[in-house]
Amino acid sequence: MKKVVLPGDDAALVDPSFSSAVIAWQKQHGRHALPWQNTRDAYRVWLSEIMLQQTQVAAVLGYYARFLERFPTVFDLAAAPSEDVMAQWSGLGYYTRARNLHACAKRVVDEYGGEFPSDPGLLAQLPGIGRSTAAAIAAFSAGVRAAILDGNVKRVFARVFEVDAYPGEKKVEDALWRRAEALLPGEGIEAYTQGLMDLGATLCMRSSPDCVRCPLKDRCGAHASGRTAELPVRKPKKASPEKQAAMMIVIDSGEVLLEQRADSGIWGGLLSLPELAGHGALDEAAGIDDVVGGARRFGEVEEVEPLLPLVHVFTHYKLHIAPYRVALSRRADTPASHVWWRLSETDAAPLPAPVKKLLAQFGSARLF
Ligand code: ADE
Repeated sequence: MKKVVLPGDDAALVDPSFSSAVIAWQKQHGRHALPWQNTRDAYRVWLSEIMLQQTQVAAVLGYYARFLERFPTVFDLAAAPSEDVMAQWSGLGYYTRARNLHACAKRVVDEYGGEFPSDPGLLAQLPGIGRSTAAAIAAFSAGVRAAILDGNVKRVFARVFEVDAYPGEKKVEDALWRRAEALLPGEGIEAYTQGLMDLGATLCMRSSPDCVRCPLKDRCGAHASGRTAELPVRKPKKASPEKQAAMMIVIDSGEVLLEQRADSGIWGGLLSLPELAGHGALDEAAGIDDVVGGARRFGEVEEVEPLLPLVHVFTHYKLHIAPYRVALSRRADTPASHVWWRLSETDAAPLPAPVKKLLAQFGSARLF
């Protein structure tokens, strides 16, 4: 049975026992020692919330510490060259976050004198900060009573309230926001917000949720009806596209040629290997002649060798990488968008993870 929340019904959604249960549980069983907790420093809180979008705590910890060491304040970050910011982010994925992070730091310095606003409405106007992230930053850094609704919280609500529709759908999401607002506690917003996140991450997981320990089990519709595996309703599936990229590892005198990618797109702003244009579809594999033709603008091609292909899985598509080693006997003028980089030092370059992996494999294979 679909439960539809109608506008104007919001008073009926208020239930202070919900937040009390979450807060009591968080105080006893939640996470209290994460490096971005126990501080009201909005810069640190903001940085953690951006890194934690789409990325789990365990993966963020090392990046967070290194990032703060390199950019201790919002002023340091705003003043840094974008290559440095991208290099620190390299490997964490979703690089739009890094570009927005840098843009946001500059705006906070220029427009707010380096002090993040505490109003979620103002925060949400800054690059990379959506409604839920704005609320989390305001709650953690200033105790502002604002509702979050990230993927984890949607899952908790979808189960507790047995929401029988896909939560990514606009009207379903709007209804969830109204619930989220109605359920806010009168006080204790920090513990409540952290509690919802902790519940989603440590008990109410997508698969095999630990309902026995859950403080909401007695009020959870999905638990009562045995439907935790079905809820939240999954996104209606579209076939995941597969693409391919023919990449050239152009080598000369112990250096490899890297290309600066345009600012947009999944690897925007990073360096990468030069690719052969026109071979993006899976059935358009490049041949050796195509590679020789494509590499000619970099110099006189001495040798081309196809290397083992690699598959990289993104959320929205699968990328088949067909790598080719290209040896030059003489370099042409280096195009402005390209740089030569010592092969032994590519670990430090702002490269996408699969390209780094490819170059590491290539480097170690050349030792033998
Ligand atoms: N995910 C998003 N924000 C988080 C936080 N503050 N702590 C743990 N996980 C999170």
